[in-house]
Amino acid sequence: MRKLGRTLRRSCVGLIAAAAWLAIATSLPPHATAGERQPAVSKLRQIPVAWEESIGGQLYSDWPQVMLYRGPFAKHPLWAGDAAAINTETWRCVNCHGWDYRGSAGVGGDLGVVANVPGLRHLVGASRRTVADGINHKNHGFAANQLSADALSYLVNFLIEGQRAVVDLASKARQSGADAEAGGQRYAEVCRVCHGPSGTRLNLGSERFPETLPTLARTKPWKFLHGVRFGHAGVMPAFVMLDDAEFLNLLTYAARRLDKS
Ligand code: HEC
Ligand code: HEC
Repeated sequence: MRKLGRTLRRSCVGLIAAAAWLAIATSLPPHATAGERQPAVSKLRQIPVAWEESIGGQLYSDWPQVMLYRGPFAKHPLWAGDAAAINTETWRCVNCHGWDYRGSAGVGGDLGVVANVPGLRHLVGASRRTVADGINHKNHGFAANQLSADALSYLVNFLIEGQRAVVDLASKARQSGADAEAGGQRYAEVCRVCHGPSGTRLNLGSERFPETLPTLARTKPWKFLHGVRFGHAGVMPAFVMLDDAEFLNLLTYAARRLDKS
């Protein structure tokens, strides 16, 4: 999968992304009638913050890919998961702290649940200093040529604020009421170009454990929501402009109908 990601990135992904952005920008519903529309300026002010959280979310999911850091990697000193894991994988935040940000107490990352890892949800609203110190903890062993000062700052934004968006979405997803029909329309407009008509064009797992969009939506909703909310470095934009209902419509559509139509 990583290979496919890389190949895609190398080829015309810039173009596709630009086209997708255009599609999103032109297809988003007006959201509100003129009377209740927010003043443009306040909307603009929100965007940079959302973007910084998104880059933070991407770093959390795969910082070596965002930083174009190719190693060398020994196994991470705190790794207490699958002994056969590829070294690079043991350094991804998500593979220890989990797709639901609950560490050993939660659903785990791409390689399952890892022992002795704290959750990070209590850091929502914490001071930047506390969070940065947590990441810089010497046991983590992140060097400045791995995580730059900017990257650290984006990660802090993600942990003190960004992660909350996904936690909120996941708790709303447990309530019913999503509109699969509307999710299908949005899918056709902004996702199908890359993921294909039945969501199976891209492998979102590994070569050994392949995963399609519908299987991901059914079995790993946390990864689904994190991935769509924050994007995937270099290959998929962050969909920060969709509102909560639209995320949930997309999740429901992908889980229930996408590979059945
Ligand atoms: C190999 C597993 C592993 C990886 C990878 C990992 N962590 Fe951790 N993390 C831990 C463990 C274990 C602790 C507890 C450390 C301790 O107390 O000695 C921890 C602690 C933390 C803390 C402090 C938590 C608190 O309660 O204050 C933060 C913040 C954190 N990690 C963020 C990150 C981020 C961000 C990344 C990726 C850039 C990351 N971690 C990657 C295992 C990992
Ligand atoms: C510009 C192409 C593109 C568009 C548009 C796009 N994706 Fe993706 N998406 C990708 C690629 C490529 C990957 C796989 C990245 C990898 O694993 O290497 C991916 C990964 C994912 C993942 C897995 C999470 C992750 O971080 O890998 C989910 C979930 C996902 N996409 C859902 C969606 C949904 C829903 C939409 C529409 C709202 C969408 N994507 C739009 C290209 C795209």
